[in-house]
Amino acid sequence: MKTEYDYFVIDIEHLKGKKTFPFQLFIFNPSHKKFSMFLNGNRPLTKEHESFLNYILERGGKLAILKNQRKTFLVAQETTAAEIPSLKERELHPLEKERLMNIKLKEMHDEKTGAFSLQSEFELACQTDNFEKVIENARVEILTFSVTISPTVSLALHLAKTHLDKDNYLNRIVAVSYLLAKNCNIVDQDALSDIICGSYFGHIGLTQTPLTIARTPYNQLPEKEKSLFQKHTILGHHLIKKSQINLSERCKKIILEHHERAGGNGYPAMKYGEQIEILSQVVGAVSHLFEYSSGKITGGKQSMKSIIIAMKAKSYLPGLEYDFGEKVFQSIITLINTDKIETKEKENINTEAKKAA
Ligand SMILES: [Fe+2]
Repeated sequence: MKTEYDYFVIDIEHLKGKKTFPFQLFIFNPSHKKFSMFLNGNRPLTKEHESFLNYILERGGKLAILKNQRKTFLVAQETTAAEIPSLKERELHPLEKERLMNIKLKEMHDEKTGAFSLQSEFELACQTDNFEKVIENARVEILTFSVTISPTVSLALHLAKTHLDKDNYLNRIVAVSYLLAKNCNIVDQDALSDIICGSYFGHIGLTQTPLTIARTPYNQLPEKEKSLFQKHTILGHHLIKKSQINLSERCKKIILEHHERAGGNGYPAMKYGEQIEILSQVVGAVSHLFEYSSGKITGGKQSMKSIIIAMKAKSYLPGLEYDFGEKVFQSIITLINTDKIETKEKENINTEAKKAA
């Protein structure tokens, strides 16, 4: 896996008007925040290439060379490292050094554990009531995030480093939200960091309501207390804003919106369909899954398998929600492979789930 440390940036003038090069050219696209191949070695730099390059550079993009082609570049372009500003040695920040070490640790982790499948690991974690492997997988990935993107990414990194190291209720929600977001093709570090911070702070508003409200299963709360519980979204959003924690607006939106539902029956604003940020739907869906399973909604614990079977069939169970938008819903119901479960077993699970609810 290449990182920004594997490249050095050059100016277009350093090409010296030449049209072919014995080294590869890469461009950094600011909208994707990624380096990608621009021109292979010994291929001609055409007018189309030049106009695309100018287009990207005018928008804050960068032209770059792989550090392992540094010597080839300097010889071919008859220049020296002293003439290339990005090649002047600089001391890496301790956080950058730590990140490089974490990238190596992730490579070792991946080699040792092999490919990670959220579906099989989630199913095993539910069966054994042990989410250590799921949490660890999320943690080793998050620790490789760049330290220079934004305060929210840096906070996500900090939270992963200091808190995402044990199997507890909140870390299960954070890790599964992160991994489910990736299953929904959300791969941008900004967005994933919003998910991480949003799921850590999603229920901070409950600190502003009476303790009994958080401790009583939602379905057993009188109507007045239910509406007080629902205020945790607005209270959390307000608390974060007042605290002046430097979180992205999208992350604050997750805190505010994680109970909005695609059909318009959520809260606090009864938003509908695409008015709801998909990241809010991810955190909302995963939180709901763990809340339902742990008894925070009905007062009775239920297996994830039975919840997912009920969600997939859209069966009515008191307090069970599944209106998370099609993309997130499809990801949630495939967290456990229910196809292999026999019809009879599904019926039993459904009957037991209904009794428990
Ligand atoms: Fe909530």
